[in-house]
Amino acid sequence: MVVGVFDSGVGGLTVAKSIIDEKLFDEVIYYGDTARVPYGTKDENTIVRYSLEAVEFFKNFNIDILLVACNTASSYALDEMRKVAPFEVVGVIEPGVLSITKQNPKLDSKILVIGTKATVSSGIYKKMLEEKGFCNIAQIETGLFVPLVEDGIFEGPIMDAMLEHYFKDVEKPDYIILGCTHFPLIAEAISGYFEGSVLVHSGEAIVGYLHDKFGLKNRGYESALKLFASSSPERLKLRADEWLKGSKYK
Ligand code: DGL
Repeated sequence: MVVGVFDSGVGGLTVAKSIIDEKLFDEVIYYGDTARVPYGTKDENTIVRYSLEAVEFFKNFNIDILLVACNTASSYALDEMRKVAPFEVVGVIEPGVLSITKQNPKLDSKILVIGTKATVSSGIYKKMLEEKGFCNIAQIETGLFVPLVEDGIFEGPIMDAMLEHYFKDVEKPDYIILGCTHFPLIAEAISGYFEGSVLVHSGEAIVGYLHDKFGLKNRGYESALKLFASSSPERLKLRADEWLKGSKYK
């Protein structure tokens, strides 16, 4: 099976890493719209238009499933993408929510959703969690983490100042949804700030979802990885070398 992974930029490599490590597919075709990142500051029409263009890109390949690794695109564009895609389109929001419900937490558990401006203002995580009966959900736009991660700043004084800036008035949550592709890279810093909170990572959530909904299992051999970007593909390749270190792929 061949999977497409779409993100607004390089951050979706965190999701690609999870599916590569889990050896779910023969081939992983990654496309980052690096010419137009970030999506998280754009309006709905623009996010949908860019996401539909990504579907057109993937029509050039014989993919079985498209994983929309980008939380922002998943928040706004899935319905439109599904109307025109000749393959399955799977976003990261529902898998993230289900990965919490699978743990059978109390319905008054404190859940914090962090993401881009667009993801948070869509309210999609909150709505889906409320539909499952959860009643104690907070959301914070933490878009400034994105350029820090892009610059390779995962810890240290700038990260500490940013954590304090966003979280100083927040009571420790039981669950934190890392509602942005970049945030798994700063999971350690976030866990250091909120010790004991359970972090929900889109990549791990989507692996669980692909197991549960599509019956996909570890095939036991390495996936081939092909990387494409709408600008500076060499930068995407560098990030892949760095962030996928330790993962085995062809
Ligand atoms: N990929 C985006 C997301 O997961 C983060 C970067 C952006 O704003 O485009 O929401």
